[in-house]
Amino acid sequence: MLPDAESTLEHTASSFRSTLPHTEPPYRSRAWGHGLHSLSSYQGKLKPSLAHWLVRHFTDPGDRVLDPLGGVGTVAFEASLLGRTAFSCDLSPFASAVARAKLDPPRCSELMHELDAFAEDLASISLRESDYAAAEFGLNARVRDYFHEETLAEVLKARRILLGSDHSRPRNFIKACLLHILHGNRPYALSRVSHPITPFSPTGPFEYRSLMERLRTRCERLMSLQWPEEFVPGTSWHSDFREIPNLLSEPVNAIICSPPFPGMRFDRPNWLRMWFCGWMENDFHETSRGFLERQQGRTFEVYSEFFQVCRDVSTIGSPVILHVGGSKAYDMTEKLTAIGSRYLHHCSTIIENVENVEKHGIKDKGTTSEHILLVFERR
Ligand SMILES: C[S@@+](CC[C@H](N)C(=O)[O-])C[C@H]1O[C@@H](n2cnc3c(N)ncnc32)[C@H](O)[C@@H]1O
Repeated sequence: MLPDAESTLEHTASSFRSTLPHTEPPYRSRAWGHGLHSLSSYQGKLKPSLAHWLVRHFTDPGDRVLDPLGGVGTVAFEASLLGRTAFSCDLSPFASAVARAKLDPPRCSELMHELDAFAEDLASISLRESDYAAAEFGLNARVRDYFHEETLAEVLKARRILLGSDHSRPRNFIKACLLHILHGNRPYALSRVSHPITPFSPTGPFEYRSLMERLRTRCERLMSLQWPEEFVPGTSWHSDFREIPNLLSEPVNAIICSPPFPGMRFDRPNWLRMWFCGWMENDFHETSRGFLERQQGRTFEVYSEFFQVCRDVSTIGSPVILHVGGSKAYDMTEKLTAIGSRYLHHCSTIIENVENVEKHGIKDKGTTSEHILLVFERR
C-alpha cells in the first residue's frame, strides 16, 4: 500500500536517517563538492555533501527550494546544481554577495570583459581622506595593518567602487572573488599572513601584492570549472528573512537551512570582509542587532517569527528542515522543536551518527553528536 500523504515525509526522513548518505564515500570527504563552493571562506558554512543530500533526498527536480538563512549559499547552490529553482536570503552583505555569485555566475566572456572595465575604474579613481579614515578601523588590528601601502590603496579603491549591492552579475562575481582573496595565509591573498576564515592579526613582511593580478588569477581558475547540464540559476537576496514573503512571487516546495549556533556571531569573525562591504564600527554594534545570532541570545522566541515565515511561504506538504549544530545543539533543538511545532508539524529529529530517530522528542541526550536535523512539515 502506498503511504498516505501525511506519512510520506516521515518515511523520507526515516530513510535519510537509516542511510545518512552524506556520510558514505565519496561524500564524506571534506573536499567533496563543486569547486565554486570554495568561492569564499565562511565560518559556519554547511558541508556541501550534507546540503547536496538534503536537497536530493527531500526535493524533486523542478522544485522551488529556499534557504532563508542562506549564508554563502551552500544549500541553494546545491539546489541549483541539482536542477531545482533556488532562493537564498541572508542579512549579511558579504554572505549574500557570495551566494549570488554562486547562484547566478557570469559567462566567462562577460567576466573577462568586466575585469577589464574594473581595472579601468581602479586606475581612474582617486582616493579621498574618508577612504584612508576607513582603513583606521579594525577589530584585531587596523585594516591598514593588513596590507602593503600600495595594496591598501588598491583595496580602498576597490571597496569604494564596490560599495552597495546593486551590481551587475559579473561585477558581483568580481566582488565575491575579492572578498575571498582579501585575507589569508597563502600567496593568493592580498593581506600579510593572516587566516582565510577569520582575519587574525597579521604577521610577516609588508609586501606589495597586486590586486588585479590576484583577482584575474582567481576569476580564471573559477571560470575553468565544469557545470552540470541540470544547473538552474538561482536568486540571492541581501535581506532579513522577515522580508521573504514580499520577495517571493510564488510559494516554495521546501525550506532547508542552518540557523546560527548559540553563542556564534557571523559579523565579528568576518569583520574585514564586512568592512569591505561597507560596515564600520557602528554596524558591528547596532546593525548587527537585526541578526538572529544576537537576538536568540536574548530569547529563542524570535524563532516564532521565523517559523511563521516558513509556514507562510511554503506549499502544503513542504519539508522545513533545520540543521542544528554546535556544542549547545541539544538545548537549541528542544527550544526550536517546541516553537516550530506551533506553526508546523514536527516529523522527525535525526541525530547524525546515532541509530536513532525520534518522533516528537530526542531520545539520547548523552550522545556527543553535534549534528541534528529537525524535520517539520507544512500542513
Ligand atoms: C549558520 S549560518 C548559515 C550558513 C549557510 N548554511 C552556509 O552554508 O553558508 C546562519 C546565517 O544566518 C544569517 N542570519 C542571521 N540573522 C538573519 C536574518 N535576520 N535574516 C537573514 N539572515 C540572517 C547569518 O548572517 C548567517 O549567515
